[in-house]
Amino acid sequence: MNRLVLLRSRRELRDYRASLGPGARVGFVPTMGALHEGHLSLVRLALGECTVVIASIFVNPLQFGPNEDLSKYPRPLENDLELLRAAGAHAVFVPTVDEMYPEGASTVVVEESLSRVLCGAFRPGHFRGVATVVLKLFHLVQPHVAYFGQKDAQQCSVIERMVRDLELSVKIVRGPTVRDPDGLARSSRNIYLSAEERSKAPQIFRSLQVVRDAYLSGERRIEALERAGRSILERDSAFSVQYFEVRTLRGLDRPDVAPAVGCEGEPMLVAVAAMLGSTRLIDNLVLDQFRQA
Ligand code: PAJ
Repeated sequence: MNRLVLLRSRRELRDYRASLGPGARVGFVPTMGALHEGHLSLVRLALGECTVVIASIFVNPLQFGPNEDLSKYPRPLENDLELLRAAGAHAVFVPTVDEMYPEGASTVVVEESLSRVLCGAFRPGHFRGVATVVLKLFHLVQPHVAYFGQKDAQQCSVIERMVRDLELSVKIVRGPTVRDPDGLARSSRNIYLSAEERSKAPQIFRSLQVVRDAYLSGERRIEALERAGRSILERDSAFSVQYFEVRTLRGLDRPDVAPAVGCEGEPMLVAVAAMLGSTRLIDNLVLDQFRQA
């Protein structure tokens, strides 16, 4: 049976990291727990490329707004540890809030461009909290490679920008979005959905597919693409769309037209955030102009 080393303090983590020696290639998968296949797919990706895989579980208060779900965020720790062990992770860092933010902490990381659009416009301070905790975790874990899910595409872009701008020597890998068979992207927040909401939730992926179909049929005007997708969700009053936008994948710019199928140019990201009842769901899809699938 695999052994999973449980690291509860920065000190334990530092000692563990030092014990690995210079030959280890360390992969890191940061999470907030309530683990599902999306998280575990990142662990498996890391295991395929690294000799040691360290995960973290930390529900980071700094990235939650005052009216968000920090207190009710699920924390099934024992189950999470079992899932990580079964997936083959070598160690997991599970710090307390005091351990991560000692009294008097007053320094944060603010990415000032990509963080302003999409989710950033609806969750002020969110990416500041993400960037701050991820930088701290990078310093503590000192990974060679860190794995993030494309499910949170904007988060990936913000982290990649931070790594570039602050000269961090860690490689960022994006793992593909893991979905339920009906298309709903896996999320720790899906458990908040009622049975009726759950039955409607796949419409979000459907709306993204409609945009891809329109694009592959020749529609390149960004506004028309956005309208086509948004209208799918607006048919059902259970959804309240926060944004439905088509932007460049990494720079998150919003040109007027997407690159034509088969032509050079940054691929476009179709990104949506919608409330379904009181649950906020996000999803996205990439319009890869070189793949017709
Ligand atoms: P969390 O929501 O727990 O997600 C941890 C990682 O799992 C993120 O990189 C996220 O993109 C990825 N992930 C979640 N659902 C996924 C899915 N369906 N398919 C593929 N990957 C998926 O994202 C965070 O935590 C936090 O912001 C964190 C980076 C840990 C900083 O606190």
